[in-house]
Amino acid sequence: MNRLFAAACFTALISWLGCQPSSTPRNPDTILDMKRATDYHSYSRPQEAVTTHLNWQAKVDFDRKQIVATATYDLDVDADAQRVMLDIRDLTIHEVRVDGEMVEFELGPNQPFIGQPLSIPIQGHHKQISIDYTTSQDAAAFLWVDGDKPFLFTQSQAILARTWIPCQDSPGIRFTYSADVEVRSDLMALMSAVNPTTKADDGRYHFEMNQPIPSYLLALAVGDVEFRSVGEHTGVYATPDLIEAAAFEFAEMEDMLSAAESLYGTYAWERYDLLVLPAAFPFGGMENPRLTFATPTIIAGDRSLVSLVAHELAHSWSGNLVTNATWDDFWLNEGFTVYFEQRIMESVYGREISEMLSTLSYQGLVDEVDAIMDVNPNDTHLRLHLKDRDPDDGMTAIAYDKGYFFLRLIEETVGREVFDAFLKDYFTSHAFSVMHTDQFLSYLEEHLLNTEELRQTVQVQAWVDGPGLPDNCPQVSSSRIERVDAALQGWVNGSVVTSALPWNDWMYQERYRFLSNIPDDTPASRMAELDASWDINTTGNNEILFAWLEQCIRSKHEPAYDRLRTFLVHVGRRKFLTPLYAAMIESNLADMAHSIYTEARPNYHSVSIGTIDAMLDWKSVNQP
Ligand code: BES
Ligand code: ZN
Repeated sequence: MNRLFAAACFTALISWLGCQPSSTPRNPDTILDMKRATDYHSYSRPQEAVTTHLNWQAKVDFDRKQIVATATYDLDVDADAQRVMLDIRDLTIHEVRVDGEMVEFELGPNQPFIGQPLSIPIQGHHKQISIDYTTSQDAAAFLWVDGDKPFLFTQSQAILARTWIPCQDSPGIRFTYSADVEVRSDLMALMSAVNPTTKADDGRYHFEMNQPIPSYLLALAVGDVEFRSVGEHTGVYATPDLIEAAAFEFAEMEDMLSAAESLYGTYAWERYDLLVLPAAFPFGGMENPRLTFATPTIIAGDRSLVSLVAHELAHSWSGNLVTNATWDDFWLNEGFTVYFEQRIMESVYGREISEMLSTLSYQGLVDEVDAIMDVNPNDTHLRLHLKDRDPDDGMTAIAYDKGYFFLRLIEETVGREVFDAFLKDYFTSHAFSVMHTDQFLSYLEEHLLNTEELRQTVQVQAWVDGPGLPDNCPQVSSSRIERVDAALQGWVNGSVVTSALPWNDWMYQERYRFLSNIPDDTPASRMAELDASWDINTTGNNEILFAWLEQCIRSKHEPAYDRLRTFLVHVGRRKFLTPLYAAMIESNLADMAHSIYTEARPNYHSVSIGTIDAMLDWKSVNQP
């Protein structure tokens, strides 16, 4: 610890001397913009003081499952400022210093998912604060995976950064960072920063992120990983058992990066690497700058699931460069990213593939809009209403796919060339700043939808603040998908026998479409026919396996139950868990759901546990 503190003091001294590493020049409006941000998911008061640089000194303790750290922030302080407010959740604060002097800090009441305000007294002339703290065993951002070679990863989005670093945890506030992290010497530490490619003998790693980022992009992973380059600016990190497969699966990352740059301008983060996480990772991917975190479930052996990489890469512009100001503006991150993802996929793999993907997302969107409309129609607006709610509730197909179809409508209205030029200018002129929905809409009307006729055609208001899917939603069609639908219809009504289905000629998207559209009431005997012909339980493609298992539950095809259990115990990706547990409940298999969940729950990350606990009413069932 002492050494850590000494290092912190040293760094403080260096930055006091003005020797900070050079950083990306801030857009002159950025600090002003940050000060304007009001975000009801954060206690920070940017009008008084904003954090501009973080120096993080940390020691990772796998035995205690905790991190002991010092966070030192440079501040931009208003002349009348009286305090700087940070967000924390489940952190133990030991000591706080302002410009090196110990001060009395205040902690406010603890609120569910929001946590507590940490209030630090300052005055207009103060420059820096330092916080010594320890994380808790159940810090919600962390997952500690046990084993000979244990693994730790963080997931900060949306508001979990505050569970491992005290911070102004609002997407509208950006800061650069540097870090010194000490880990077990047989493990490598990686962050959303300039990363090592080999292990350090002494387990000490230094990191720099010289471009200002919002707190939700703070990320750390520690594990027995290796690095493989796959291109000039791209590479993969994975555990030794997966590195070979990962290098093959993601070999086309450099092509995606070039495609993205030719669409919307220079990549701002120098390198784009991908880290394959343990299967318990609750998401498919997370766009941590310079280092996407990804689930191993996209390693299919045939590169069929790489659109996820296109998605996370696209966030390097939409999200990481131009950032949603609050979680109500989440569609500005995700809708733009899905649009951009499709464009990268089209450019690298062709329109046939990208249209199949759009067709699948259209179906997912229509289903989800229907489901949400029954519960709360306001949740189908692009602009969300997350006040007093967990921002995680906003992670539905609305922000993603309604956002995508809105942008596609604009593209189809003004023409691709014009829209591309608009988007490129949008990313360039707002780089490293934040965006509110209103601000985007004014920009859109000023620069693109500048005639009454165009505005009439697009109906911005209906999309952004209206329910459901407006009538002018673009139509997608894919002849390959239409042929699958016809084959399925034939198979269901008996005119096409199982052996006549062209399974082996189908690509992943076609197989997925077939399996996910099998009618719910299909008898188990028919699933057994498919099982006998295609042996889907052994597929290496987890999307196909997932669609198959869901239908096996609904059809009560018992021979698949063992595979279902091992899948759910091993994989923690929420997108797969939610429908599978829901299918069990809806199919009167609640006992099986509880039995599997009892075994699987200790392996899951808090994000997935939160969702599945609520779904299975776990707490009340398991309370003594
Ligand atoms: N940024 C998201 C993940 C996220 C969103 C985490 C909100 C926490 C809160 C990431 O880019 C994402 O969208 N991941 C998707 C994959 C994508 C291909 C749609 C996922 O994990 O399913
Ligand atoms: Zn995303």
